[in-house]
Amino acid sequence: SEFETILLERKGGSDGKGGVGWITLNRPKALNALNAQVLADITAALDELERDDSIGAVVLTGSEKAFAAGADIKEMATKSYMDMFLADTFAGWDRLANFRKPTIAAVAGYALGGGCEVAMMCDILIAADTAKFGQPEIKLGVIPGMGGSQRLTRAVGKAKAMDLILTGRNMGVEEAERAGVVSRIVPADQLLDTALEAAQTIASMSLPAAMLAKAAVNRSFETSLAEGLLFERRAFHSLFATDDQKEGMAAFTEKRPPNFTNS
Ligand code: HXC
Repeated sequence: SEFETILLERKGGSDGKGGVGWITLNRPKALNALNAQVLADITAALDELERDDSIGAVVLTGSEKAFAAGADIKEMATKSYMDMFLADTFAGWDRLANFRKPTIAAVAGYALGGGCEVAMMCDILIAADTAKFGQPEIKLGVIPGMGGSQRLTRAVGKAKAMDLILTGRNMGVEEAERAGVVSRIVPADQLLDTALEAAQTIASMSLPAAMLAKAAVNRSFETSLAEGLLFERRAFHSLFATDDQKEGMAAFTEKRPPNFTNS
């Protein structure tokens, strides 16, 4: 691989569309702890995948034992306030949160601290029945720093967010799905196939429609209902400028599958 800490693959997409970008976190000895190199590698991979017109969705996954056991504690341990402030530590992860094509986190094993936060930056979170989620930063004398106090709270509400962030306890998949962090639970041996199938399904749709669908849902976290509804309606209207809208609706009428061209 061209990267030190991740593997980047492309699945499908040979006809120029419908492919899936597949990123596997690959620091097994550190349970995929997220150090600066991981962020640099993921950012570079995402830049590639965003430019690549054959890619319609991206899956981010880890190992059977750990999606990621957090930000790299050993890398952070001796940092000063000024080190953290001047580097604006973790700001670079906005690249993943703001990635424009749909993303799926496929999570098995530990998704703790930054691992949980990175999984929550993805659009869909598919979890193996072995997955464990938590924000244990409080046990290290700090707090979540990659969105945990914000994204987790929006996903699960104050009651459970406070419980998790203040006690640092882990939650299993059933609790995480009930609470709204997890989209689907699957048996561990089906995790990657399920994530690939979901990603391929998304990648088979019109890419501009998928991108605007993602943008519209994300908008709901940033704005009032009236503004969000307006954003949605304008985005909906704009899709009538695409060939894919004509094709999708013609295909329905003609009782055949659509052939989207992402145009
Ligand atoms: C650096 C880590 C790490 C981490 C694990 N390792 N998590 N290194 N940063 N976050 C390393 C261990 O030091 C060890 O290296 C190797 O990975 C295997 O881990 P073990 O602890 O031996 O495995 P196990 O006994 O199975 O326990 C798994 C675990 C535990 C329960 C997940 O590793 C753990 O509690 N990790 C830390 C979880 C955590 O606190 N995450 C939040 C980080 S802070 P060696 O070299 O000893 O073999 C964060 C938020 C950032 O993410 C915001 C501000 C801080």
